[in-house]
Amino acid sequence: MDVETVISRVLGQIRPTEEERAFVRELMDELREIAEGTIGELGLEVRPYFVGSLAKDTYLAGDHDVDMFLAFPLETPLEQLREKGLELGRAIAGRLDSHEIAYAEHPYVRATHRGVKVDLVPCYDVKSWRDVRTAVDRSILHTEWVNANLGGRNDEVRLLKRFLKGINAYGSEIYVRGFSGYLAEILVIKYGSFLEVLRRADFMLRQKVIDPGNWLKMEPEIAMKTLKREVEEDRPLIVLDPVDPRRNVAANLSWEKCGRLYFKARDFLKEPSLEFFFPPESVPGNYTDELRRKGTHLLTIIFERPGLVDDVLLPQLEKSAKGFGKALKREGFGVLGWDVGRSRGRAFLLLELERIERGRVRIRPGPEFFTERALEFYAKNDRVWIEGKRLYAEKGITENVVDVVQGLLEKNQIPLGKNLREAVKEADVLVDYVPLELEREAYLFLRRERKRIK
Ligand code: UTP
Ligand code: MN
Repeated sequence: MDVETVISRVLGQIRPTEEERAFVRELMDELREIAEGTIGELGLEVRPYFVGSLAKDTYLAGDHDVDMFLAFPLETPLEQLREKGLELGRAIAGRLDSHEIAYAEHPYVRATHRGVKVDLVPCYDVKSWRDVRTAVDRSILHTEWVNANLGGRNDEVRLLKRFLKGINAYGSEIYVRGFSGYLAEILVIKYGSFLEVLRRADFMLRQKVIDPGNWLKMEPEIAMKTLKREVEEDRPLIVLDPVDPRRNVAANLSWEKCGRLYFKARDFLKEPSLEFFFPPESVPGNYTDELRRKGTHLLTIIFERPGLVDDVLLPQLEKSAKGFGKALKREGFGVLGWDVGRSRGRAFLLLELERIERGRVRIRPGPEFFTERALEFYAKNDRVWIEGKRLYAEKGITENVVDVVQGLLEKNQIPLGKNLREAVKEADVLVDYVPLELEREAYLFLRRERKRIK
Protein backbone atom coordinates (compact mmCIF):
# COMPACT_ATOMS: atom_id res chain seq x y z
CA MET A 1 0.00 0.00 0.00
CA ASP A 2 1.40 3.44 -0.80
CA VAL A 3 1.95 5.91 1.97
CA GLU A 4 -0.87 8.29 0.99
CA THR A 5 -3.41 5.49 1.06
CA VAL A 6 -2.20 4.33 4.45
CA ILE A 7 -2.35 7.83 5.87
CA SER A 8 -5.81 8.58 4.55
CA ARG A 9 -7.14 5.29 5.88
CA VAL A 10 -5.63 5.89 9.29
CA LEU A 11 -7.03 9.42 9.37
CA GLY A 12 -10.44 7.99 8.60
CA GLN A 13 -10.23 6.14 11.89
CA ILE A 14 -8.55 8.66 14.19
CA ARG A 15 -10.03 11.98 13.12
CA PRO A 16 -13.07 12.74 15.27
CA THR A 17 -16.33 12.93 13.35
CA GLU A 18 -18.46 16.08 13.24
CA GLU A 19 -20.80 14.33 15.63
CA GLU A 20 -18.04 13.68 18.17
CA ARG A 21 -16.74 17.23 17.83
CA ALA A 22 -20.20 18.62 18.47
CA PHE A 23 -20.56 16.43 21.54
CA VAL A 24 -17.18 17.54 22.85
CA ARG A 25 -17.98 21.21 22.23
CA GLU A 26 -21.28 20.93 24.07
CA LEU A 27 -19.65 19.08 26.92
CA MET A 28 -16.95 21.74 27.27
CA ASP A 29 -19.51 24.55 27.19
CA GLU A 30 -21.54 22.83 29.86
CA LEU A 31 -18.49 22.23 32.03
CA ARG A 32 -17.30 25.81 31.68
CA GLU A 33 -20.72 27.08 32.70
CA ILE A 34 -20.87 24.79 35.73
CA ALA A 35 -17.33 25.76 36.76
CA GLU A 36 -17.92 29.48 36.40
CA GLY A 37 -21.20 29.24 38.27
CA THR A 38 -19.61 27.33 41.13
CA ILE A 39 -16.64 29.68 41.31
CA GLY A 40 -19.06 32.63 41.54
CA GLU A 41 -21.13 31.01 44.27
CA LEU A 42 -18.03 30.27 46.34
CA GLY A 43 -16.83 33.83 45.80
CA LEU A 44 -13.44 32.67 44.49
CA GLU A 45 -11.17 34.46 42.09
CA VAL A 46 -10.37 31.46 39.90
CA ARG A 47 -10.27 31.02 36.14
CA PRO A 48 -11.17 27.71 34.57
CA TYR A 49 -9.04 26.63 31.59
CA PHE A 50 -9.26 23.64 29.33
CA VAL A 51 -5.85 22.12 28.63
CA GLY A 52 -4.65 18.85 27.11
CA SER A 53 -5.52 17.45 23.71
CA LEU A 54 -9.14 18.58 23.80
CA ALA A 55 -8.15 22.21 24.15
CA LYS A 56 -5.58 21.78 21.37
CA ASP A 57 -7.84 19.73 19.12
CA THR A 58 -5.24 16.98 18.92
CA TYR A 59 -7.27 14.20 20.55
CA LEU A 60 -7.80 10.90 18.82
CA ALA A 61 -11.33 9.88 17.89
CA GLY A 62 -13.05 8.24 20.83
CA ASP A 63 -10.36 9.42 23.26
CA HIS A 64 -11.65 12.70 24.62
CA ASP A 65 -10.93 12.94 28.33
CA VAL A 66 -11.31 16.46 29.69
CA ASP A 67 -8.56 18.28 31.58
CA MET A 68 -10.02 21.31 33.30
CA PHE A 69 -7.53 23.42 35.21
CA LEU A 70 -8.68 25.74 37.97
CA ALA A 71 -6.21 28.59 37.98
CA PHE A 72 -5.74 30.53 41.21
CA PRO A 73 -4.11 33.98 41.46
CA LEU A 74 -0.34 33.87 41.99
CA GLU A 75 -0.68 35.49 45.43
CA THR A 76 -2.56 32.45 46.77
CA PRO A 77 -0.40 30.60 49.32
CA LEU A 78 0.29 27.00 48.31
CA GLU A 79 -1.58 25.57 51.29
CA GLN A 80 -4.64 27.54 50.36
CA LEU A 81 -4.39 26.51 46.71
CA ARG A 82 -4.45 22.87 47.74
CA GLU A 83 -7.32 23.30 50.16
CA LYS A 84 -9.51 25.64 48.11
CA GLY A 85 -8.64 23.82 44.92
CA LEU A 86 -9.90 20.55 46.27
CA GLU A 87 -12.98 22.20 47.74
CA LEU A 88 -13.80 23.88 44.43
CA GLY A 89 -13.14 20.66 42.51
CA ARG A 90 -15.53 18.82 44.78
CA ALA A 91 -18.19 21.49 44.45
CA ILE A 92 -17.99 21.42 40.66
CA ALA A 93 -17.92 17.62 40.58
CA GLY A 94 -20.97 17.55 42.83
CA ARG A 95 -22.89 18.80 39.82
CA LEU A 96 -21.46 16.15 37.52
CA ASP A 97 -22.40 12.49 37.27
CA SER A 98 -19.88 11.05 39.73
CA HIS A 99 -16.41 11.67 41.16
CA GLU A 100 -13.52 10.53 43.37
CA ILE A 101 -10.29 12.01 44.73
CA ALA A 102 -7.01 11.16 42.98
CA TYR A 103 -3.50 11.80 44.27
CA ALA A 104 -0.65 13.40 42.35
CA GLU A 105 1.64 16.22 43.55
CA HIS A 106 -1.61 17.65 45.00
CA PRO A 107 -4.86 15.81 45.46
CA TYR A 108 -7.39 16.60 42.74
CA VAL A 109 -10.87 15.57 41.72
CA ARG A 110 -11.48 13.02 39.01
CA ALA A 111 -15.06 13.09 37.81
CA THR A 112 -17.10 11.38 35.14
CA HIS A 113 -19.71 13.28 33.20
CA ARG A 114 -21.78 11.97 30.30
CA GLY A 115 -19.45 9.01 30.12
CA VAL A 116 -16.31 11.15 29.85
CA LYS A 117 -13.49 11.34 32.39
CA VAL A 118 -13.07 14.91 33.67
CA ASP A 119 -10.00 15.90 35.73
CA LEU A 120 -10.39 19.05 37.82
CA VAL A 121 -6.85 20.16 38.60
CA PRO A 122 -5.97 23.23 40.73
CA CYS A 123 -2.98 25.25 39.54
CA TYR A 124 -1.58 28.78 39.45
CA ASP A 125 -2.64 31.24 36.79
CA VAL A 126 0.87 31.69 35.39
CA LYS A 127 1.74 34.07 32.60
CA SER A 128 5.36 33.00 32.22
CA TRP A 129 7.78 30.27 33.31
CA ARG A 130 9.09 32.59 36.00
CA ASP A 131 5.73 32.17 37.78
CA VAL A 132 5.66 28.38 37.65
CA ARG A 133 5.35 26.87 41.12
CA THR A 134 3.76 23.46 40.76
CA ALA A 135 4.33 20.67 38.22
CA VAL A 136 1.01 21.28 36.48
CA ASP A 137 1.28 25.06 36.09
CA ARG A 138 2.92 24.87 32.66
CA SER A 139 -0.02 23.12 31.03
CA ILE A 140 -1.89 26.36 30.40
CA LEU A 141 1.21 27.79 28.73
CA HIS A 142 1.65 24.60 26.68
CA THR A 143 -1.90 24.84 25.41
CA GLU A 144 -1.39 28.46 24.35
CA TRP A 145 1.94 27.72 22.69
CA VAL A 146 0.62 24.76 20.72
CA ASN A 147 -2.50 26.62 19.64
CA ALA A 148 -0.41 29.57 18.51
CA ASN A 149 2.07 27.43 16.55
CA LEU A 150 0.31 24.36 15.24
CA GLY A 151 -1.10 26.18 12.22
CA GLY A 152 -3.76 23.64 11.30
CA ARG A 153 -1.50 20.60 11.42
CA ASN A 154 -3.73 18.93 14.01
CA ASP A 155 -4.20 15.78 11.95
CA GLU A 156 -0.43 15.42 11.61
CA VAL A 157 -0.25 15.27 15.41
CA ARG A 158 -3.01 12.68 15.44
CA LEU A 159 -1.09 10.54 12.99
CA LEU A 160 2.10 10.77 14.99
CA LYS A 161 0.32 9.96 18.25
CA ARG A 162 -1.44 6.97 16.72
CA PHE A 163 1.83 5.78 15.19
CA LEU A 164 3.59 6.08 18.56
CA LYS A 165 0.74 4.19 20.20
CA GLY A 166 0.88 1.50 17.56
CA ILE A 167 4.62 0.93 18.03
CA ASN A 168 4.17 1.01 21.80
CA ALA A 169 6.12 4.22 22.41
CA TYR A 170 3.39 6.66 23.48
CA GLY A 171 2.72 7.96 26.98
CA SER A 172 4.82 9.89 29.49
CA GLU A 173 3.70 8.02 32.61
CA ILE A 174 6.70 6.91 34.64
CA TYR A 175 5.99 3.27 33.94
CA VAL A 176 5.77 3.89 30.19
CA ARG A 177 8.55 6.43 29.63
CA GLY A 178 7.45 7.10 26.07
CA PHE A 179 6.63 10.18 23.98
CA SER A 180 4.04 12.51 25.55
CA GLY A 181 1.28 14.18 23.56
CA TYR A 182 3.00 17.53 24.03
CA LEU A 183 6.30 16.15 22.70
CA ALA A 184 4.49 14.80 19.62
CA GLU A 185 2.99 18.26 19.07
CA ILE A 186 6.38 19.95 19.33
CA LEU A 187 7.93 17.52 16.84
CA VAL A 188 5.18 18.15 14.30
CA ILE A 189 5.54 21.90 14.75
CA LYS A 190 9.33 21.65 14.39
CA TYR A 191 9.46 19.34 11.35
CA GLY A 192 6.15 20.23 9.73
CA SER A 193 4.34 16.91 9.32
CA PHE A 194 4.01 13.37 10.52
CA LEU A 195 6.05 11.98 7.63
CA GLU A 196 8.74 14.60 8.09
CA VAL A 197 9.10 13.63 11.76
CA LEU A 198 9.61 10.02 10.69
CA ARG A 199 12.13 11.04 8.01
CA ARG A 200 14.07 13.04 10.59
CA ALA A 201 13.84 10.45 13.36
CA ASP A 202 17.46 9.34 13.12
CA PHE A 203 18.77 12.84 12.58
CA MET A 204 16.76 14.03 15.57
CA LEU A 205 18.25 11.35 17.78
CA ARG A 206 21.77 12.13 16.64
CA GLN A 207 21.38 15.87 16.90
CA LYS A 208 19.87 15.39 20.32
CA VAL A 209 18.92 19.01 21.03
CA ILE A 210 15.72 20.68 19.87
CA ASP A 211 15.07 24.25 20.88
CA PRO A 212 11.79 25.44 19.37
CA GLY A 213 11.54 28.40 21.78
CA ASN A 214 14.99 29.64 20.79
CA TRP A 215 16.07 29.67 24.43
CA LEU A 216 19.75 29.13 23.64
CA LYS A 217 19.68 32.65 22.21
CA MET A 218 17.13 34.27 24.51
CA GLU A 219 18.19 32.78 27.85
CA PRO A 220 21.58 31.25 27.11
CA GLU A 221 22.65 30.79 30.69
CA ILE A 222 19.55 28.96 31.89
CA ALA A 223 19.22 26.97 28.69
CA MET A 224 22.86 25.84 28.87
CA LYS A 225 22.38 24.78 32.44
CA THR A 226 19.41 22.64 31.40
CA LEU A 227 21.40 21.14 28.53
CA LYS A 228 24.31 20.29 30.77
CA ARG A 229 22.06 18.69 33.37
CA GLU A 230 20.19 16.60 30.80
CA VAL A 231 23.40 15.51 29.06
CA GLU A 232 24.74 14.35 32.39
CA GLU A 233 21.52 12.40 32.93
CA ASP A 234 22.22 10.70 29.59
CA ARG A 235 18.82 11.51 28.08
CA PRO A 236 18.21 10.24 24.55
CA LEU A 237 16.72 13.56 23.49
CA ILE A 238 16.68 17.09 24.85
CA VAL A 239 13.76 19.29 23.86
CA LEU A 240 13.92 22.63 25.63
CA ASP A 241 10.35 23.41 26.58
CA PRO A 242 9.31 26.42 24.48
CA VAL A 243 7.47 27.77 27.51
CA ASP A 244 10.20 27.07 30.08
CA PRO A 245 13.98 26.96 29.44
CA ARG A 246 14.54 24.98 32.63
CA ARG A 247 12.70 21.94 31.44
CA ASN A 248 13.41 19.11 29.01
CA VAL A 249 10.09 18.04 27.53
CA ALA A 250 11.62 14.63 26.80
CA ALA A 251 13.02 14.15 30.31
CA ASN A 252 10.91 11.03 30.84
CA LEU A 253 11.66 9.45 27.49
CA SER A 254 13.61 6.20 27.73
CA TRP A 255 16.25 4.98 25.27
CA GLU A 256 14.07 1.94 24.60
CA LYS A 257 11.05 3.96 23.46
CA CYS A 258 13.31 6.25 21.47
CA GLY A 259 14.84 3.23 19.79
CA ARG A 260 11.42 1.92 18.86
CA LEU A 261 10.73 5.13 16.91
CA TYR A 262 14.18 4.96 15.30
CA PHE A 263 13.62 1.48 13.88
CA LYS A 264 9.89 1.69 13.18
CA ALA A 265 10.20 5.01 11.34
CA ARG A 266 12.69 3.41 8.92
CA ASP A 267 10.57 0.29 8.48
CA PHE A 268 7.44 2.32 7.85
CA LEU A 269 9.04 4.58 5.26
CA LYS A 270 10.43 1.57 3.45
CA GLU A 271 7.17 -0.35 3.52
CA PRO A 272 4.17 1.63 4.75
CA SER A 273 1.26 -0.29 6.20
CA LEU A 274 -1.68 0.10 8.54
CA GLU A 275 -0.15 -2.35 10.96
CA PHE A 276 2.23 0.24 12.35
CA PHE A 277 -0.77 2.25 13.58
CA PHE A 278 -3.02 -0.67 14.42
CA PRO A 279 -0.88 -3.70 15.18
CA PRO A 280 -2.81 -6.93 15.01
CA GLU A 281 -3.45 -8.61 18.34
CA SER A 282 -0.89 -11.36 18.51
CA VAL A 283 -2.60 -14.72 18.26
CA PRO A 284 -2.16 -16.06 21.75
CA GLY A 285 -0.15 -19.25 21.76
CA ASN A 286 0.63 -21.67 24.47
CA TYR A 287 3.27 -20.71 27.00
CA THR A 288 4.23 -24.30 27.77
CA ASP A 289 4.97 -24.91 24.06
CA GLU A 290 7.08 -21.78 24.13
CA LEU A 291 9.02 -23.01 27.17
CA ARG A 292 9.66 -26.31 25.44
CA ARG A 293 10.81 -24.59 22.27
CA LYS A 294 13.23 -22.38 24.17
CA GLY A 295 14.35 -25.00 26.65
CA THR A 296 14.03 -22.47 29.47
CA HIS A 297 11.94 -22.22 32.61
CA LEU A 298 9.41 -19.78 34.00
CA LEU A 299 9.34 -18.63 37.60
CA THR A 300 6.19 -16.77 38.65
CA ILE A 301 5.80 -14.84 41.88
CA ILE A 302 2.21 -13.81 42.40
CA PHE A 303 0.63 -12.00 45.33
CA GLU A 304 -2.22 -9.78 46.51
CA ARG A 305 -2.09 -6.39 44.86
CA PRO A 306 -1.32 -3.77 47.52
CA GLY A 307 -3.63 -0.73 47.39
CA LEU A 308 -1.35 1.43 45.26
CA VAL A 309 -2.02 3.32 42.04
CA ASP A 310 -0.21 2.11 38.92
CA ASP A 311 2.19 5.07 39.01
CA VAL A 312 3.52 3.78 42.33
CA LEU A 313 2.91 0.05 41.98
CA LEU A 314 4.54 -0.58 38.61
CA PRO A 315 7.94 1.01 39.36
CA GLN A 316 8.05 -0.96 42.61
CA LEU A 317 7.21 -4.18 40.80
CA GLU A 318 9.98 -3.44 38.33
CA LYS A 319 12.43 -2.81 41.10
CA SER A 320 11.47 -6.09 42.74
CA ALA A 321 11.76 -8.06 39.50
CA LYS A 322 15.22 -6.60 38.94
CA GLY A 323 16.09 -7.55 42.52
CA PHE A 324 14.98 -11.14 41.95
CA GLY A 325 16.83 -11.22 38.63
CA LYS A 326 20.11 -10.11 40.17
CA ALA A 327 19.84 -12.39 43.19
CA LEU A 328 18.96 -15.48 41.13
CA LYS A 329 21.73 -14.77 38.64
CA ARG A 330 24.20 -14.58 41.53
CA GLU A 331 22.81 -17.86 42.82
CA GLY A 332 23.58 -19.50 39.49
CA PHE A 333 20.17 -19.86 37.87
CA GLY A 334 20.89 -17.91 34.70
CA VAL A 335 18.27 -15.20 34.23
CA LEU A 336 17.18 -14.50 30.65
CA GLY A 337 14.60 -11.81 31.36
CA TRP A 338 11.81 -10.55 33.56
CA ASP A 339 8.45 -8.84 33.35
CA VAL A 340 5.84 -7.53 35.77
CA GLY A 341 2.14 -6.79 35.74
CA ARG A 342 -1.12 -6.83 37.58
CA SER A 343 -4.30 -8.67 36.85
CA ARG A 344 -7.50 -8.10 38.76
CA GLY A 345 -6.62 -8.09 42.46
CA ARG A 346 -3.17 -9.58 42.06
CA ALA A 347 0.31 -8.45 41.08
CA PHE A 348 2.98 -10.69 39.61
CA LEU A 349 6.60 -11.00 38.60
CA LEU A 350 7.73 -13.31 35.80
CA LEU A 351 11.32 -14.48 35.41
CA GLU A 352 12.71 -16.64 32.66
CA LEU A 353 15.46 -18.91 33.93
CA GLU A 354 17.99 -21.22 32.32
CA ARG A 355 17.47 -23.85 35.01
CA ILE A 356 15.39 -24.42 38.10
CA GLU A 357 17.75 -26.73 39.91
CA ARG A 358 21.37 -26.30 40.73
CA GLY A 359 23.97 -28.78 41.79
CA ARG A 360 26.07 -27.79 44.76
CA VAL A 361 28.84 -29.32 46.76
CA ARG A 362 28.61 -29.01 50.49
CA ILE A 363 31.27 -29.92 53.04
CA ARG A 364 29.78 -32.29 55.50
CA PRO A 365 31.45 -32.68 58.91
CA GLY A 366 31.39 -36.26 60.21
CA PRO A 367 32.20 -37.93 63.53
CA GLU A 368 35.67 -38.35 65.08
CA PHE A 369 37.48 -41.05 63.08
CA PHE A 370 37.98 -43.60 65.87
CA THR A 371 34.31 -43.92 66.77
CA GLU A 372 31.82 -46.56 65.66
CA ARG A 373 29.83 -44.10 63.59
CA ALA A 374 32.98 -43.08 61.74
CA LEU A 375 33.17 -46.41 59.96
CA GLU A 376 29.63 -45.92 58.74
CA PHE A 377 30.45 -42.36 57.55
CA TYR A 378 33.57 -43.69 55.84
CA ALA A 379 31.56 -46.38 54.05
CA LYS A 380 28.73 -44.10 52.97
CA ASN A 381 30.64 -41.17 51.53
CA ASP A 382 32.91 -41.01 48.53
CA ARG A 383 35.35 -38.18 49.04
CA VAL A 384 36.43 -38.35 52.69
CA TRP A 385 39.33 -36.78 54.61
CA ILE A 386 40.49 -36.10 58.16
CA GLU A 387 40.98 -32.71 59.71
CA GLY A 388 42.29 -32.94 63.24
CA LYS A 389 40.42 -35.93 64.62
CA ARG A 390 37.33 -35.50 62.60
CA LEU A 391 36.18 -36.92 59.30
CA TYR A 392 34.84 -34.71 56.57
CA ALA A 393 33.21 -35.50 53.26
CA GLU A 394 32.10 -33.65 50.17
CA LYS A 395 28.47 -34.07 49.43
CA GLY A 396 26.68 -33.12 46.24
CA ILE A 397 23.15 -31.77 46.64
CA THR A 398 20.59 -30.32 44.30
CA GLU A 399 18.65 -27.25 45.29
CA ASN A 400 15.36 -26.17 43.80
CA VAL A 401 14.83 -22.54 42.84
CA VAL A 402 11.71 -22.32 44.99
CA ASP A 403 13.71 -23.21 48.10
CA VAL A 404 16.44 -20.80 47.15
CA VAL A 405 13.87 -18.02 46.68
CA GLN A 406 12.27 -18.75 50.04
CA GLY A 407 15.70 -18.73 51.69
CA LEU A 408 16.65 -15.42 50.10
CA LEU A 409 13.34 -13.85 51.11
CA GLU A 410 13.72 -15.00 54.71
CA LYS A 411 17.17 -13.47 54.87
CA ASN A 412 15.99 -10.25 53.18
CA GLN A 413 18.55 -10.70 50.43
CA ILE A 414 16.33 -9.53 47.58
CA PRO A 415 15.87 -5.78 47.08
CA LEU A 416 12.11 -5.22 46.82
CA GLY A 417 9.85 -2.22 46.29
CA LYS A 418 9.28 -0.80 49.74
CA ASN A 419 5.49 -1.19 49.78
CA LEU A 420 5.71 -4.74 48.47
CA ARG A 421 7.87 -6.48 51.07
CA GLU A 422 5.03 -7.90 53.13
CA ALA A 423 2.96 -9.00 50.15
CA VAL A 424 5.90 -10.70 48.43
CA LYS A 425 6.68 -12.72 51.54
CA GLU A 426 3.17 -14.18 51.28
CA ALA A 427 3.51 -14.78 47.54
CA ASP A 428 2.89 -18.01 45.67
CA VAL A 429 6.07 -19.10 43.90
CA LEU A 430 5.29 -21.18 40.83
CA VAL A 431 7.59 -22.97 38.43
CA ASP A 432 6.74 -23.67 34.78
CA TYR A 433 3.10 -23.19 35.58
CA VAL A 434 0.84 -20.12 35.76
CA PRO A 435 -2.78 -19.71 36.78
CA LEU A 436 -5.26 -19.39 33.93
CA GLU A 437 -5.48 -15.61 34.21
CA LEU A 438 -1.73 -15.31 33.47
CA GLU A 439 -1.43 -17.77 30.59
CA ARG A 440 -1.59 -15.08 27.95
CA GLU A 441 0.81 -12.81 29.89
CA ALA A 442 3.29 -15.67 30.23
CA TYR A 443 3.16 -16.37 26.51
CA LEU A 444 3.61 -12.71 25.57
CA PHE A 445 6.53 -12.43 27.98
CA LEU A 446 8.33 -15.53 26.74
CA ARG A 447 8.02 -14.26 23.16
CA ARG A 448 8.98 -10.73 24.22
CA GLU A 449 5.95 -9.58 22.24
CA ARG A 450 5.69 -6.18 23.86
CA LYS A 451 9.40 -5.43 23.84
CA ARG A 452 10.28 -6.70 20.42
CA ILE A 453 11.00 -4.27 17.65
CA LYS A 454 11.33 -7.03 15.08
P1 UTP B 1 -1.86 14.42 28.67
O1 UTP B 1 -0.87 13.36 29.04
O2 UTP B 1 -3.31 14.18 28.91
O3 UTP B 1 -1.57 14.75 27.13
O4 UTP B 1 -1.37 15.73 29.40
P2 UTP B 1 -2.53 15.26 25.99
O5 UTP B 1 -1.78 16.30 25.23
O6 UTP B 1 -3.85 15.66 26.54
O7 UTP B 1 -2.62 13.99 25.04
P3 UTP B 1 -3.68 12.77 25.05
O8 UTP B 1 -4.42 12.89 23.76
O9 UTP B 1 -4.55 12.90 26.25
O10 UTP B 1 -2.83 11.53 25.08
C1 UTP B 1 -2.12 16.94 29.46
C2 UTP B 1 -1.18 18.11 29.52
O11 UTP B 1 -0.25 17.94 30.60
C3 UTP B 1 1.05 18.39 30.23
C4 UTP B 1 0.92 18.96 28.84
O12 UTP B 1 0.70 20.33 28.97
C5 UTP B 1 -0.28 18.25 28.29
O13 UTP B 1 -0.91 18.97 27.27
N1 UTP B 1 2.06 17.29 30.29
C6 UTP B 1 1.66 16.03 30.53
C7 UTP B 1 3.39 17.56 30.10
O14 UTP B 1 3.80 18.69 29.89
N2 UTP B 1 4.30 16.54 30.17
C8 UTP B 1 3.92 15.29 30.40
O15 UTP B 1 4.80 14.41 30.47
C9 UTP B 1 2.57 15.01 30.59
MN1 MN C 1 -5.17 14.38 27.79
